[in-house]
Amino acid sequence: MIVTSCGNSLPIAKAIAKALKAKFSPLTISSFPDGDLYMKYNTDVKKHTVIIVHSLQPNPDTSLFDITCAAYTAKDLGAKKVILVAPYLSYMRQDKRFNPGECISSRIMAKMLNPCIDHLITIDPHLHRYKSLRDIFTMKTSCLTANSLIAQYIKKHFNHPVIIGPDWESYQWAEEIAKEVGTQVTVLEKTRFSSRHVTSKMIHPVLLKDREVIIIDDILSTGHTICEGAKNAYAAGAHRVGAVVVHGLFVEDAIHKLKKAHVNDMISTNTIEHPTNRIDVTPLLVEELKRLRI
Ligand code: R5P
Repeated sequence: MIVTSCGNSLPIAKAIAKALKAKFSPLTISSFPDGDLYMKYNTDVKKHTVIIVHSLQPNPDTSLFDITCAAYTAKDLGAKKVILVAPYLSYMRQDKRFNPGECISSRIMAKMLNPCIDHLITIDPHLHRYKSLRDIFTMKTSCLTANSLIAQYIKKHFNHPVIIGPDWESYQWAEEIAKEVGTQVTVLEKTRFSSRHVTSKMIHPVLLKDREVIIIDDILSTGHTICEGAKNAYAAGAHRVGAVVVHGLFVEDAIHKLKKAHVNDMISTNTIEHPTNRIDVTPLLVEELKRLRI
C-alpha cells in the first residue's frame, strides 16, 4: 500500500501512512516552462493499492487535474486500486443550474473522477440538492462526518452554548451536533443575493439573552454567512459568539470580516489546512481505511 499526495493535506497523508504502516511517497509535481503539468511517481506502484490523500482546496481546479493525472498514471503503472481520500470535496455547491447557461460543475468533477478512482472517501460533502454521493459518483464512496468530533470539542471547550445553523443547508449539521452536545438549536433564514452578499434573519427565535452562541456551518468561504449569523445573535442579546466549521476556506479577507463581526472563537477542522484548525479528522479517515481493509 502506498500513500501519496499532490501537495495538499500532507500532514494528514503522512499520519495515515504511519497509522496504516504504509509507505508515504509524495509525487513530484512541477511545471514545464510553458505551464504544462509535469508529474512523476517516485516509487514503484505496480500491484500496490495507491491512496491519494488530497483536499480539493486550496486551488480546486489544479487539484482536480492533478488528482486525475495521478490516478490515471497509477493505473498506467499497474496499481491494483486507486483510492482518493479527499477530506474536502470542492464544487459540490454548484449542484444545479441556478441561472440559464451555467455549468453544473459538481457533475463534471464527478465525471472526471469516476473512471480513474476505485473508491472515494470524503468528509461532510455539501449534500443539499443531491441526497447522496451516489447521485453523481459511480465508484464506491464513503461519506464520513466530523459531527461527533465537533460535538466533543464543543462539550470540552464551551459552557452549554446555544447552537445556530446560519441557513437551512447547514441545519443538518447544526441539529445533529446540538443533539449530541445536548443543547438548544435554531436556524436562520438566509437570502443569498450573490457570492459576496447575503442577509439572514431569525425565524424561530430562541432566548439568546446573555447566552454563548456557536454558529455551525459545513463550509466557510468568504465569511459573510457566519458574520450575518453573528449579527443576528448579538441583536438577540448573545454575550459571546463563536463559530465552528468543517471546511474553512477563509477566502479573501474572511478573517478580518469575522473579527469585525466579533466572532470571538473561530474554529475549523483540518480538512483544509488553516491556522484556525483545532479538530483533527485523521482518526475518522484511518478508521474508515481500516474498516475497508484496503
Ligand atoms: C452554503 O450553503 C454553505 O453551507 C455555506 O453557508 C456557504 O458556502 C458559506 O459561504 P460564505 O462564507 O461565502 O458566506
